[in-house]
Amino acid sequence: MRVKYFLAAMLALVVAIGTVGCATRTQLSEASLTVQSLTNGAAEQIWSPNLDGITTLESASEQPPKFHATWPSLANEDEINTPVSQVVNAWIDAFSLGHGKDDSATQTITWQLTSASARFITVTLWEQVAQPDSTALQVRSLVLDKDAKKVVEPAELFSEAGKKALGKAFLDKATSAKLIQGNAPARLDAQDVDSMVRGVGISRDGDLVVYIGTDKIAGVTAQVFAVTVSKDQAEQLFSGAGLTWFQDPQIGTPAGAAAANGTDHLATASPSPSESDSSMAVDCAVTKCIAITFDDGPGPYTEKLLDELKAAKVKATFFTVGNQVARHPEIVKREVQEGHAVGNHSWNHPQLTKVSKGEVARQLNKTSDAIFNASGKRPELFRPPYGAWSKKIDSHGMAVIMWDVDTEDWKNRNAAITTKRALEGAHPGAIILFHDIHPSTVEAIPGIIAKLQQQGYTLVTVPQLLGETMKAGHVFYDGKHPKKA
Ligand code: NI
Repeated sequence: MRVKYFLAAMLALVVAIGTVGCATRTQLSEASLTVQSLTNGAAEQIWSPNLDGITTLESASEQPPKFHATWPSLANEDEINTPVSQVVNAWIDAFSLGHGKDDSATQTITWQLTSASARFITVTLWEQVAQPDSTALQVRSLVLDKDAKKVVEPAELFSEAGKKALGKAFLDKATSAKLIQGNAPARLDAQDVDSMVRGVGISRDGDLVVYIGTDKIAGVTAQVFAVTVSKDQAEQLFSGAGLTWFQDPQIGTPAGAAAANGTDHLATASPSPSESDSSMAVDCAVTKCIAITFDDGPGPYTEKLLDELKAAKVKATFFTVGNQVARHPEIVKREVQEGHAVGNHSWNHPQLTKVSKGEVARQLNKTSDAIFNASGKRPELFRPPYGAWSKKIDSHGMAVIMWDVDTEDWKNRNAAITTKRALEGAHPGAIILFHDIHPSTVEAIPGIIAKLQQQGYTLVTVPQLLGETMKAGHVFYDGKHPKKA
């Protein structure tokens, strides 16, 4: 106890000395630190470069308890490869021990590089355990310091004063955004923050992203928050090596950024929460809602469709095919950034009632991984190709979303007929099926949106339409609607 106190005092002293006489560095003031944004789960605009010399390793079990894990191995960097595989193995062991042979839980482990400079590489691992009625998420970053040839914990990058300021700013933001139900702790000291900082990353704008695990705070609405602190404010939070981690130029090209060059959609997408959050509350038990859904993309016409949806301020749902996601991750990233819901539509569109269990697992997990790698979000929705489904098939933790209005746009390839079928089928709670790979469909959409809005409909995403009724493993053909309608 005394030793700890002494160390803390020494560190405080070092921090104080470190800031005296350093005119360019802002004096750390807890009151002035603000959290720019707080998102549930992964941050959307993380620096996530594809670098050479990285191999993805994989482990999976298709027998219950089912899991699918991928993690990186960096060439000649065993300092980090060993702890990364230890974390993955510990997660798999804990899951396998905790779940039985007739258990429908599914564990998915994925990874991202959340920063990469000449000296530091940050590997961030995500674990999701999906059960029929709940999903658990956890995150863990490991930071390789190549110069020191060692791996440091994310919390070690921050100064003691920085941790306190971070804790306070997080609590302030979570409380004001009503993300803590019940009594928020009055304050978080440096040790609390030590145990809550599970990961770190750098955004494409150079801002700091801290992944906070909330298992030690009661009544919090998310298990992991991505806390973004602006570049200018973040600089005051670090220890010496931490500041180098933060300030060294990032290497590589972040995923999805290459295709954005020369177009303005990613540069101008600065999503405010009200615009970007597809889980934003709309009560479709009171409001006349319709969800428009687009299958089989992303394709050559998807970006035009996104432009139309943006102009109309309408959110939709995209059921994407994995191999197309891998080809056009930037489009999927844009879909998520602009507030649309992105679902899984298998890897290459087989009829799942005719393939083996193992093939279903491969089709779904590979696609979810591709969507996560493109957008930072794992899909919660799945739509089976051709609507071919049976209760015996495992949805791997996703809700199964069918439709109740079929425009047959793939068959008619005619904007007028597609429009007619959409409007004739429209009713409160409807899920309308389109395909964003046909130009005639994209052509029809602005008119369909305008007509539906004239008729008093609010266009929503599938998660908004289903609200809290949405559950993994359940099959939905339509959504909530006002009782009198
Ligand atoms: Ni399809």
